[in-house]
Amino acid sequence: MPIVIALVLVVAGSILFHLLSPWWWTPIASNWDYIDHTISLTFWITGAVFAAVVLFMAYCVWRFRHREGNKAHYEPENKRLEWWLTVVTAVGVAAMLIPGLFVWGQYVTVPSDAAEVEIVGQQWQWSFRLPGADGKLGKSDTRNVTPENPLGVDAQDPAGQDDVIVEAADLHLPIDKPVKVLLRSIDVLHDFYVPEFRAKMDMIPGSVTYYWFTPTRTGTFEVLCAELCGQGHAFMRGVVMVDTQEDYLAWLGEQQTFAQLTATQQVGAAD
Ligand code: CUA
Repeated sequence: MPIVIALVLVVAGSILFHLLSPWWWTPIASNWDYIDHTISLTFWITGAVFAAVVLFMAYCVWRFRHREGNKAHYEPENKRLEWWLTVVTAVGVAAMLIPGLFVWGQYVTVPSDAAEVEIVGQQWQWSFRLPGADGKLGKSDTRNVTPENPLGVDAQDPAGQDDVIVEAADLHLPIDKPVKVLLRSIDVLHDFYVPEFRAKMDMIPGSVTYYWFTPTRTGTFEVLCAELCGQGHAFMRGVVMVDTQEDYLAWLGEQQTFAQLTATQQVGAAD
């Protein structure tokens, strides 16, 4: 009997902990509430299965407890039961996976009015690049990386000259404007993750990965690296600030373009 009570308490405690947990996710700050819905759905399905399995176990412990003269009946196979288990499991797994496919489709289908932002990961910091007045990011290649050109922007590409290079560790974005995030790494795997945006993706050396989102409230949000990338992984932090349009333009006005940065460095080198 104590085992039965313990099992029932485990189920009741797990449900209460889920409902009353202080470690619930952070308030959302992007358009991706679909991601939250898929997580909730997974919680519901896995929670229901967990409760059903543990309660069934409690029932069996109580129902088939030891009694004098009772004998176990040996039944190694049961076709009907196996079919039921297979079908119910398949439906449960499909219900968790199918909504994710639809959300993924939207996640990588970028609206045509999304502004591009490049995010570069390296051990162990974040850098950012925005297209300049021409609205286009210039070509880049890891082979171009030097101390003066930390993002490897192609100096021969005219489209890259007016690109805005953000040297500070904080990126600003205007509120309510869709953003296409282009992710690059110049050394190992990283993963750009802002929990409040409900969006993240691996950055893979040699390729450019992307997704999009729309920031929906102003504020300061912490950037985490979500892919183990070496000793400094835990300290690979940054900040994204979502601004009103005016604040954003004021910040943008203070940033330097690639051409300005290389010009000042050449003057510095000539001294
Ligand atoms: Cu970069 Cu972990």
